[in-house]
Amino acid sequence: MAFSMSYKVDLSRLDRAASESLTQQLVDVFAAAIEGGELQPGEKLPTTRELAADAGVNHLTAARAYRRLAELGFVTARVGRGTFVRDLPPAAAEERGDDWQLYALPDDPPDYRNQVLGDAFRLATEPGMVSLSTGWPSPRLYPTEELAEISARVFAEEGGEAISYLTAEGLPRLREQLAARGRTAGYATDADEIVVTSGARQAIDLVARSVLRPGDVAVVESPTFVGILGSLRATGARVIGVPFDADGLDVDALEQVLARHEVRLCALQSSCQNPTGRDLSPERARRLAELAVERNFFVLEDGVYNEVRYEGRSPRPLREAAPGHVIYLDSLSKTVGGGLRVGWLAARGPVLERLTALKLASDFHTATLPQHIAARYLESDGYERQLAGSLPFYRERRDALMEALERHLAGEYRADKPHGGHHVWVSLTRPVDERSLYSEAVRHGMTFTPGGVVTAEQPRARASLRLSFSLLDPDELDEGVRRLARALREVRRRERHRATAPVS
Ligand SMILES: Cc1ncc(COP(=O)(O)O)c(C=O)c1O
Repeated sequence: MAFSMSYKVDLSRLDRAASESLTQQLVDVFAAAIEGGELQPGEKLPTTRELAADAGVNHLTAARAYRRLAELGFVTARVGRGTFVRDLPPAAAEERGDDWQLYALPDDPPDYRNQVLGDAFRLATEPGMVSLSTGWPSPRLYPTEELAEISARVFAEEGGEAISYLTAEGLPRLREQLAARGRTAGYATDADEIVVTSGARQAIDLVARSVLRPGDVAVVESPTFVGILGSLRATGARVIGVPFDADGLDVDALEQVLARHEVRLCALQSSCQNPTGRDLSPERARRLAELAVERNFFVLEDGVYNEVRYEGRSPRPLREAAPGHVIYLDSLSKTVGGGLRVGWLAARGPVLERLTALKLASDFHTATLPQHIAARYLESDGYERQLAGSLPFYRERRDALMEALERHLAGEYRADKPHGGHHVWVSLTRPVDERSLYSEAVRHGMTFTPGGVVTAEQPRARASLRLSFSLLDPDELDEGVRRLARALREVRRRERHRATAPVS
């Protein structure tokens, strides 16, 4: 009770039995004292240790309360000196609106990947910005008239069934259609193996959550799709990146990881990979399937870009060689339209039962209407026409981006020509601080996806970036790369300047 006698904050009101947490109660009494003027701007608060002793709470609770007060703008912490009431008090309580949520919510430390992605979505819509950071299919190509006609037919033929609940596995008619395609492609043999999901994104999440527990080891090709990294990490598993080259995941490097760890899941895209657009070579695919069977780990095989292919033939899916070990997933998002949210997975055995149970627990089932639409669309020749019609559009854009890179960055980068997909993976010949390059690129009016966002390793000085071409016209792609090249030169000039500046 060393300071409380003379202190202006009444801690006797703390109520351990209250439903409000002690942290929130502490925040409230300090906020009230600051707002009421008992605590003046600039005044020093007790140390967290003193506060903990005086309030009879543990030290962490006291520290958490000060952190919340700082987030709310009541106090500032000065390193080595303590916590002080801010000179500029925050807005009155009623104007703070939803700020209380900051202390009602669990801690969520800022994450580099989410920050960059959030930025990319926001910046993409700013006037004048050339955004090479999103690789969605172009809405100009969506088969809207055909889908409108099919939707009308669905309601006419199905009546209320068009919007009725379904079983978790999905609409039998769609599962049959997907299995038929799976037999031709090699990823499934029977409709019973198929679960319809809300996009491939949900399928990835279901696989990660079914197979992994905190502390397990998962392997992922790196770079990869950011959603795969997100889902694997969210399980609390340790995620180890395995390098990727022009022939796909480096299976020698995978074997080294397998020698040291008990791996439960290996996640990869076997063809037209995001972000490289490259395929896993047949030789590596064969070895990988053998390893999965020998060592008994699961493989998540993501095939969403498989049919967005400009060159060569699709490799046979890994699942064909090891159907009990490989869980294949795919969607209509990259070929028809992402907003349909029609995806699927193919698996068998106990893992399929877990996946289905988790799907049921997550959202019952994928929306019924899009499943009816997708089934009829796939039964017609519309899907094949859609593919044939859209591939030349994307191929032209891929070529335009490759040419723009040569035009503006010759000698400064390396990029393997993507066989398919919507992205080019660019490696700069010399490393650069990717955050500096990103900010400078935004200042020059363009965005890209920094390599650190899509690689499994910790962000550091990197030399890689993903450029997405599917939404832009060739002249916009050229302008985007021209701005990137200027930004790169500016960052390099600054780095040189810093390196040669005399130390003061
Ligand atoms: C490789 C990869 N897998 C999965 C997804 C998610 O697809 P969907 O929109 O079907 O959820 C994406 C989307 O960008 C992707 O690039």
